[in-house]
Parts: sequence; C-alpha cells; structure tokens
Amino acid sequence: MANITVPTASVTSNPLADELRTARTVRPCVVVIFGATGDLTKRKLVPSLMGLAKDGLLPPGFAVVGFARRAWTDESFRAELADGVRQFGRPDTSSQFDAMADAFSFHQSDFGETAGYVALKQKLEQIDRQRGTAGNRIFYLATPPSAYSSILQNLATTGLSVEKDGKFARVIVEKPFGRDIATAVALNDQVRAAFHERQVFRIDHYLGKETVQNILALRFANGIFEPLWNEKFVDHVQITVAESIGVGSRGGYFEESGIIRDMIQNHLMQVLTLVAMEPPTSLTADAVRDEKVKVLQAIRSFRPEEVDEATVRAQYTRGSFGGEEVKGYRDEEGVAAESTTETYAAVRLHVNNWRWARTPFVLRSGKRLPRRVTEVAIHFKQPPHLLFEGGKPLLPNVLLLRIQPDEGVALRFGAKVPGPDVRIRDVRMDFRYGTAFGGETADAYERLLLDSMLGDGTLFARADEVEEAWRIVDSIVAGWKQSAQRPDEYVAGTWGPERAEQLLLTGRAWRKP
Ligand code: BG6
Repeated sequence: MANITVPTASVTSNPLADELRTARTVRPCVVVIFGATGDLTKRKLVPSLMGLAKDGLLPPGFAVVGFARRAWTDESFRAELADGVRQFGRPDTSSQFDAMADAFSFHQSDFGETAGYVALKQKLEQIDRQRGTAGNRIFYLATPPSAYSSILQNLATTGLSVEKDGKFARVIVEKPFGRDIATAVALNDQVRAAFHERQVFRIDHYLGKETVQNILALRFANGIFEPLWNEKFVDHVQITVAESIGVGSRGGYFEESGIIRDMIQNHLMQVLTLVAMEPPTSLTADAVRDEKVKVLQAIRSFRPEEVDEATVRAQYTRGSFGGEEVKGYRDEEGVAAESTTETYAAVRLHVNNWRWARTPFVLRSGKRLPRRVTEVAIHFKQPPHLLFEGGKPLLPNVLLLRIQPDEGVALRFGAKVPGPDVRIRDVRMDFRYGTAFGGETADAYERLLLDSMLGDGTLFARADEVEEAWRIVDSIVAGWKQSAQRPDEYVAGTWGPERAEQLLLTGRAWRKP
C-alpha cells in the first residue's frame, strides 16, 4: 500500500501520531476539494490537514486545489483558509498554514463544465512537476449532493478518475449519501461508473472518532468482554447521540432530512455495527466491513404497522438552557409552521442472529437535549438468583462506552456499603482517555483524511453498508408516513418525550447521562 516515508520535520506531542508515523507511510498527492468555498473546507478539512502537518503526517509532496464556482483567486482562497485554521484548527497550526500556504491554489469552474476539468488536469500536471505530487490525486466532494453527478461524470470523461502506472486516484464522498435506498443506489451507480469501489471513500465522521474506533479495540484486544458480549448476558444495549444545539441556521436542510436521516441512518447505525459485529478474520478494510454489513443484514425491515410500537419521534418545543430561552423547532428559520419533521427519534431494533436474537438495541438521537453526549451503554442481565436486599433486583451492571465528551469506559457494579448491615450500592470503575493518555485528541477528519491518503478504507462506509442502513430507515419512514400518530413533543432542554420510556419495555429505563 504505502512505500514512501513521511517527513519527520515537525515536533509533535500526539502519541497516536508517533505511532501512525512509524506504522504507515503516505505517498505524495494532491487533494482537489470540490465546493472549496463552503463551510466544510474552512471549518474542518483544511484545519484537519494542518493538524496532520503539525504531526508530521503529510507527505513531502503535497498540494490542495480548491475547485468552485465563485470568482476567488489563490490569494483570497488562502486568506479564507488562514482564517479558518486560526478559528478552528488545533493550537499552533496557523504557523503551519503560513509556512505552506503556497501549496494551496484555487481553480474556478462550474461543476458541469468539462473544459474546467480539462484545465484542472493540466493544472494538476503542473503541480506534479513543481511540488513533487507524483500524479496521485484525491477528489473530495464537499459540494451539495446535487452536484455529485456532474463532478463524477466529468472526472470519468476527462480520465481523471483512472488509475494507471501505479498512481492513485480516489474519491471521498460526503454525506448525505442519498435520502433513501433508491437515491443511494443511484448514487452508488454513478460513483461506480467513474471509480472502482476500492477507490471510493464514503465519509461518516463518527468512524474517525478515536473512541468509536476504541469499540473494536475494547472488544477484540481483550479476553474478558467478548465471552459476555451476547444475548445470554446482555439484557439490552442503549446507543445515544444527544445534542444540546438546535437546528440553528440549517432549518431548511433539516426539514427535508429529520433526525432519522441526519443521524440515525449513518452515525448511529455505524456505531451499532461496531458494537454488534462478529470478530473479523483480520483488520483489513473488507474483512471489517463484511462483518459490519452482516449486522445490518440481520436487522429486518419494519412492516408499516409495526413502526408506531417500535419507534418514537418527537419535536422540541420552546424551552430554556441555563436560564436562556430557546425557540421551539417550528419557530426556527426555514421550518414550516406545521412541520412534522422529527428532531428526536428513538428506535428499537433486533439483530436477528445467534449472538443477539433476544437482545434489543435501542437507539436514540435528538437535538436540544440537556447535554451533548454520545455513549453506548451495555446493560447486563441480573444475576440468576437474587441473594441481597431481600431478593429485590438491584440496578443492572452497565458497561458504558463514552464516545464524547469525557471519552472513556466505565463499569457500574454493586458493592457492599461498609458497616454491619449488608447493603449494596452502585459504584463505578472508570477509565478516562484524557487521564490515561494525555495529549490532544485529533479531529475525526484528520484520521479520515490520513486514511484516505493511505488508501485504507476500513473507517469508511462501503456501498452495501449504506444501502442496508437505508433499507431499515426507509421502512421506518414508510411506517411514519402511514401512521395516524403525529410526532410527540418535548420541551427543549429535556431528555425527550415520555413515550420513549415505553420503547425499552418493562423494567428498563433510558440513562440520563
Ligand atoms: C452531522 C449532522 O453529521 O453530525 C449534524 O449533520 C450533527 O446535524 C453532527 O450536529 C454531529 O456531529 P458531532 O461530531 O458534533 O457529534
């Protein structure tokens, strides 16, 4: 895969970077960002590239070309990026950008204009000569999805998508990857008309989060968890992605997507697959993704009449955060006064295989919940015979994987309260990333950009995973469409609608992190 060594010019305090540098090497390349005048480039992509530069992980020959419609120049593009790195980059990355600003250039063209791609090709060849980027290219689609089709077609027509003489050409596709299975399949077809699957990197930024990757390490680098990781011992699994923010200025987009498409189809399903998958035969991209896709295949589509009982959807109404009044969803900009789009959804799923047949997985995600928190809580079954506290059930053991913030792993168990009586109380064993490893945690995009340069697709969604996730989500959306029930309401700043508790079935309760 990789055969050129990464420079070690800059000093780093990031232990992960040290490890990556010795383990893997990146070949020179140019990253072409389509839609480079947008927010993603300024807030995430370029600050993340500068994080990689700081850690000495960029290849020696490296350049970025911003491709967009607006009449920007190299200078105005660089000024905008410098501002982005200052605002959103890791500490000390601004100087990194200043030192390599001339590696960034701007290319103005319409996405549908073939001449613009012909000119791009010439420009890239010139960059290869000047900056030693060796004919390797990564095309990053950071445009609205409506432009994907023209870009893909033009990359194919002009031969830019073709790999030859050992040079690579890869495409990174941002979400949303379709809005249902039909559009996802159509998009996959368009992508495949220009690129082979091994050249395609579909971004789900949750997979780039350190602690999401740690799910695999926890499960498969240890001997003690896996024997318990099944329906014999696990009562149910709760996966929560809660956000305190509302939809803000994205009301128009959100109206069309709702939380089910925006979060559950991608981020929560990805986390679910990592928690539920079988051990892969190796850590190669396809071995891991083969196992992940099997989890989704084992989840049955809902029949429309099952959906009301297995899901809850709701909208936030006006409420308060830390004493400050916040709007209800229907009062947000770009949102219809009678909107039925859900800002909260909870779903009970069953993975129908030998490992999980009787263990429900409950997923929930919402905007304007009390805190920003992402966690996986594995709730274990009660002991078979209850000796203590008069035979009353105690709180179950919970293994908690805290994805963000306050990243770590905790185990809840009962311990005897000191004293003459036999009383049991819950205590916690707690591992915290920050305390154990120190150092700064890199943004998820850093890891994903690096992996795309390395050609490692493990942390990217494969076409079949995306389609399977849509199949499940489509069946929920179809049920909601047919249902006479409207979305419930919850006051902004609370943990969602009452009815979500019923989803867990008797004797269980949602965690309130
Ligand atoms: C994005 C969604 O994919 O993920 C946003 O479109 C959401 O609505 C965001 O806010 C959450 O990401 P993170 O990394 O902040 O948890």
